Amino acid sequence: MIPERTIQEIQERLDIVEVIGAALSLKRAGRNFKGLCPFHPEKTPSFMVYPHKQFFICYGCGAGGDALTFVMRHQELEFPEAVRLLAERAGVAVPQVSGGAVSKQHPELYRAHEVAARFYHDLLVKSKEGQSARDYLTRRGVEPQMWETLCLGYAPNRWDGLLARGKEEKLSPQALEKAGLAVPREGSGGWYDRFRDRVLFPVWDARGRVIGFGGRVLDDSTPKYMNSPETELYVKGRILYGLHLASPHVREKDFCIVVEGYMDLLSPAQHGIRNVVASMGTSLTENQVQLIRKMTRHVVMVYDGDYAGEMATLRGLDLFLEAQMRVKVAALPAGFDPDSLIRKQGMEAFLKVIQESQDLFDYKLGLLRRRFDPNDLEGRVRICEEMLPTIKRVPNAIQRGEYIKRLSELLGVAETLLWSELKETKLSGSSSSWRPKGIAQPQAVKAMSAEDLLAGLIVEDPSRVAQLEGRLEPEQLKGEEVRELVSQLMNRSREKSALPRDHRELLNLFERGTGDWESRVIRWLAWADSVEEKDRALEEVIQCIQQGQRRTSLENLQASIRKAELSGDEETTAQLILQYNQLVKAPVGQAEP
Ligand code: CTP
Ligand code: MN
Repeated sequence: MIPERTIQEIQERLDIVEVIGAALSLKRAGRNFKGLCPFHPEKTPSFMVYPHKQFFICYGCGAGGDALTFVMRHQELEFPEAVRLLAERAGVAVPQVSGGAVSKQHPELYRAHEVAARFYHDLLVKSKEGQSARDYLTRRGVEPQMWETLCLGYAPNRWDGLLARGKEEKLSPQALEKAGLAVPREGSGGWYDRFRDRVLFPVWDARGRVIGFGGRVLDDSTPKYMNSPETELYVKGRILYGLHLASPHVREKDFCIVVEGYMDLLSPAQHGIRNVVASMGTSLTENQVQLIRKMTRHVVMVYDGDYAGEMATLRGLDLFLEAQMRVKVAALPAGFDPDSLIRKQGMEAFLKVIQESQDLFDYKLGLLRRRFDPNDLEGRVRICEEMLPTIKRVPNAIQRGEYIKRLSELLGVAETLLWSELKETKLSGSSSSWRPKGIAQPQAVKAMSAEDLLAGLIVEDPSRVAQLEGRLEPEQLKGEEVRELVSQLMNRSREKSALPRDHRELLNLFERGTGDWESRVIRWLAWADSVEEKDRALEEVIQCIQQGQRRTSLENLQASIRKAELSGDEETTAQLILQYNQLVKAPVGQAEP
């Protein structure tokens, strides 16, 4: 471990402009500097260095961080290596301390997953117990070669299979519990295995370390999949299944196929299509989009041919557009997913679907025309309402013009009308979107929500968490990363431990390494940096989140009331209405039920 004090000293002595300036040419731009981003190809500079806060950010590709992050990424060094390099330059002595490196946090958690993956895999491949799983996979046409490629496993139908193996490997039940692989028994003490009698898909992080599992039942019972809970290693919206395996293929082909499920990745892979990642369920996150963006700008979404798949595709389209990527949609016949299509109609059918993938405009319009009738006024209005925000997100002006023209022709609405509507169209993502007025928004941060701005203000000055005390609890925040940030800092503040003084000390508090966390923190910071009157902004943001919460609670209550009414349960109905009225009258910001 390198002592925190040493890292701070390096940060204090080095100037980021010098560090980055040594690696690429920077030009002054006002009080900042700009240059061509070394992390993605570009012809006009979108890479900015901010001396007053000592950070860099690229508005083109989203990379960002401090001097240490820059050196790590630019020279492909691990954190301790980067620290040593910069320490030398800054003339700071790094004490030689034995023990794990800073970036090797959670060694036990990784080891627990490694042991588990091996244990489950061996059971699948060679044990007598694994016969039913082998039969199942064979029935589904999964070839043994895939068992190896994806390191598939079988969790035995016992309560202490993994726990017993853990004991042999000197892994405590507590460690397995922390990894989400063992569950504590209620009351009686002791633990039991989380996964039993399931085929297991190990889930890896971007570096190929196992960090969780998805387990499928061998029949039609429910729940069909059981997944690892979120742990320190496994944060769901930040992981894409198969990413490290797909990465070289995605880069080579310069496009990425995105599917929903484990099996939808496995089937194409078995036939040699390797540039595929799976979102593990339907909701793609901004973070996952960024993971793909590091490999390519071209995406083909192939989601299940059902309602949920369509809705998820629409949301995904906007996310990719927002990240300035080119996205197409391969629409599957109703009721099919990639795996079932390949099994029932062969690989050719799947390839054909990919080849015929539609421009997002055609896909979305096609969907809307099935839902709303373009022959009546109301239908046309609805179609416009849905299409315009998407068109607005299209980064290229010529492309936007083309889409407006086509929409106008298709609906028989004058182009000028559509243009003026487009101008009025607001791009509010979530209901609690918050945008400061009159402030130029850098592209990479334009779609930030109230929660992100909250995070930005806190990153800028961590002592601001004190102002959340008694008003917002971390659990009330929707974004996992914001929640994690706020909860860690609030805990520190409550335990009276020292809070980091600025974003650099904050960066040191969490594991550095992949660059994801750093660039996320810096994007938050850049956002807050562009806001004037921070105190007022913080106040407004807190209120905005509280109001969003209150709206959700009210909506939930309304739904429960309707349900109670329908079931004729008068007592419950009356009680719920009482609650509803109380909540309506309560001043915003009061703790909610
Ligand atoms: N999923 C999940 N939990 C569930 C259902 C689904 O985590 N209860 C995730 C899994 O990652 C799954 C993906 O969502 O792979 C897609 O779900 P689904 O289409 O239902 O499963 P398939 O992968 O198609 O599985 P199968 O072909 O075995 O039915
Ligand atoms: Mn499916």
